[in-house]
Amino acid sequence: MRAAAEAAEVAAAEAEAEAAAVEAAVAAVAAAEAREAAEAEAAAAEAAEAEAAEAAASVAALAAAAAPPAAVPLDELIAATDGFSEACKVGEGGFGRVYRADALPSLPRVACGFAVKTALVGVGAQGLAELQSEVRTLSAACHPSLLPLLGVCLAQARACLVYPLCCGGSLEDRLYRSPAALQRLRMLGFETAPPPLSSAARLRVLRDAASALHYLHTLSPMILHRDVSAGNILLDERGNGYLADVGFARAAEATAGGQVSHLSTQRIFGKPGYMDPIILNDGQASQLTDGFALGITLLVALTGRGAL
Ligand SMILES: Nc1ncnc2c1ncn2[C@@H]1O[C@H](COP(=O)(O)OP(=O)(O)OP(=O)(O)O)[C@@H](O)[C@H]1O
Ligand SMILES: [Mg+2]
Repeated sequence: MRAAAEAAEVAAAEAEAEAAAVEAAVAAVAAAEAREAAEAEAAAAEAAEAEAAEAAASVAALAAAAAPPAAVPLDELIAATDGFSEACKVGEGGFGRVYRADALPSLPRVACGFAVKTALVGVGAQGLAELQSEVRTLSAACHPSLLPLLGVCLAQARACLVYPLCCGGSLEDRLYRSPAALQRLRMLGFETAPPPLSSAARLRVLRDAASALHYLHTLSPMILHRDVSAGNILLDERGNGYLADVGFARAAEATAGGQVSHLSTQRIFGKPGYMDPIILNDGQASQLTDGFALGITLLVALTGRGAL
């Protein structure tokens, strides 16, 4: 009897232990499932965030965003370009130099980085006021193929404009692929020389630039570019084209009557070869003279020959 009672007790204890083990196993499976679901949810949220960040950071998204340019302190630009060092320089033009900056605390993060254009010398008080008024005018312009102005620094010592960095380089550099052009493209991240642009790629970039120019001409009041050229059409990493330097062309004209000497006549009237003879005759820029420059750009892009 006693043995039977003991056996029953053992059996009951075993059953209890088994039930506890089953319960524990069920709980462990449930916990693992919950953990997996939470991990999957977190991964999905991270992927969505990364996707959104990438979309917000592309040049195309910035061009479409229509955000007004932010004020960027000179100190920040100096720090981000390593004191405007040669190592950060991506190009040089009529207004001054262009440096790359990976991050600027005053501006939202941009995957492609920033292009900081600086004047070679100070622009003077009058030049600054006029530059400011032109920046205001341009802040109202927004088109998917117009390179957006992201930031402005109106320090008298060094006026700077900040744009998204166009990692595909300028149409001019992609066409001519000279040693200097290839060096600039290297600075933008091309480890080896990119292959020549196909005809379809050239036409796509030209179409983008033409639609941006048409947009400027249909604004009220109309904005004239005055410096359309293959050098002022930039490509992003996907081969989209952007019309650049609208602000410089306007600012150059606005300050031409003042003491500003660094804004050369080249900046005011466009580049040799791209300049409509009408400008040489009466100095009047119009949408027709912009159209002439675009026509030359088209010939340059399709033939691969120089503008002159
Ligand atoms: N946003 C940008 N992204 C990438 N590269 C740029 C950018 N802006 C300018 N660059 C590079 O810097 C070079 C110099 O630019 P900049 O606009 O100062 O002169 P330019 O276009 O040669 O002549 P212009 O004075 O008529 O504009 C360009 O040719 C281009 O290679
Ligand atoms: Mg330019």
